Amino acid sequence: MEKISIEGGKPLFGKVEISGSKNSSLSILASCLLSDKQVSILGIPKLTDTFFFLELLSSFGVEVKGLDNFKNTKKFILNAKKITNNKAPYNLVKKMRASILVLGPLLARTGKAIVSLPGGCSIGLRPVDIHLKSLEKLGARIFIEKGYIYAEALKGLKGNKIVFPKVSVGATINVLMAAVLAKGTTEIHNAAKEPEIEDLGLFLKSMGAKIEGLGTNKILVEGVTKLEKTNYKVMLDRIEAGTYALAVAIAGGEIELVGAEKKLLTFFLNILETIGVEYFVTENSIIFKRNSNSLNSIDVTTEPYPGFPTDLQAQLMAVMAISNGTSVITENIFENRFMHAPELIRMGAKIKLKNNLAIVEGVKKLKGAEVMATDLRASVSLVLAGLAAQGKTNINRIYHIDRGYQDIVKKLQFCGANIKRITV
Ligand code: UD1
Repeated sequence: MEKISIEGGKPLFGKVEISGSKNSSLSILASCLLSDKQVSILGIPKLTDTFFFLELLSSFGVEVKGLDNFKNTKKFILNAKKITNNKAPYNLVKKMRASILVLGPLLARTGKAIVSLPGGCSIGLRPVDIHLKSLEKLGARIFIEKGYIYAEALKGLKGNKIVFPKVSVGATINVLMAAVLAKGTTEIHNAAKEPEIEDLGLFLKSMGAKIEGLGTNKILVEGVTKLEKTNYKVMLDRIEAGTYALAVAIAGGEIELVGAEKKLLTFFLNILETIGVEYFVTENSIIFKRNSNSLNSIDVTTEPYPGFPTDLQAQLMAVMAISNGTSVITENIFENRFMHAPELIRMGAKIKLKNNLAIVEGVKKLKGAEVMATDLRASVSLVLAGLAAQGKTNINRIYHIDRGYQDIVKKLQFCGANIKRITV
């Protein structure tokens, strides 16, 4: 079993290369199922989630060049010439919820898909009802039996007007992918506006899909019969960039995030400024610097894009744990996304939880402790806390962190952090 061990108290100085976006990669990989032509993708981050997703695609008969040398492959070449299997079994789906994203493209391409229900996870129930109802609106017949979703549209899908009852990133992705090969026009109302969806849309357009309204809450898709070959580079990971910016906030110092883009982080940059982190935008990077000894507190509510992302909530909470004052963090996206709070409390943080509110009263110092990662973003919040804490922090169950942060230990070591992986 591996742990991450951190001796806290060292400020960060150096450069960090931001990797390709995990979430964008997963939906782009899923949409490779839509075309029988070769697709080349650059910028897939080297994570257990992306490795697993490529394996999942292989299980459907997709040829994947680069999988056998995953860590060293720059460009993955995928070819879904023939789909030999259209079932995503429980033992694969339970490893990663995002497997649900193969439902739309498998259905659109082959007329049939069988995908295990993903079930809940540590951050919430995470139902997929909106995905299913929307695919039904496109003409699919869907039923659930023994924990599996059976979806059928033997004569193909048909465009329709879909109005989401709430904003869902995953449902927008599934419907967008399915609509690309549906007959006629699909309107998606109350669509998610996340940049990763725009990235997916641009990828699909590079293959000949007809899509308008990306980045707005109304997406229009005019179905096509075929998608062509393409070369595409995945956007950079704005959540990874935000995490390193918050690492500077908590540990102090100055780091340059190579590849970080202001337009993807606008709202978040205002928050950083308010809490006391300066930033300078260069041609291909953003430099972050904590400009005083103390951090200001802030009240933040998580919201769909362009609001404050739930995927940075845990990291911000770690930073607020040593701020000068009291912060109220409201989690509006997932119902159980405060699993990091009890671990931060073990490190000396003063946090009270009340329904979807976390009231964080800043303390002068956190203290190193043995803690446990419970999900991807919770685990990285503990790394951040460990960087600033007095003494040693050992983080258990770090497989969560390998799902979403490429080379995090190396990247932080390069900036002077006293951090290592240990095997116990
Ligand atoms: C995606 C991201 C995840 C991010 C989240 C919110 C990927 C692979 N994951 O997750 O990193 O934290 O967006 O920005 O891109 N919901 C329903 N019914 C549905 C679908 C969703 O009730 O059919 C609810 C969810 O339980 C949740 C909310 O809607 O409370 C938002 O979820 P959604 O935007 O769908 O998140 P994911 O796509 O799962």
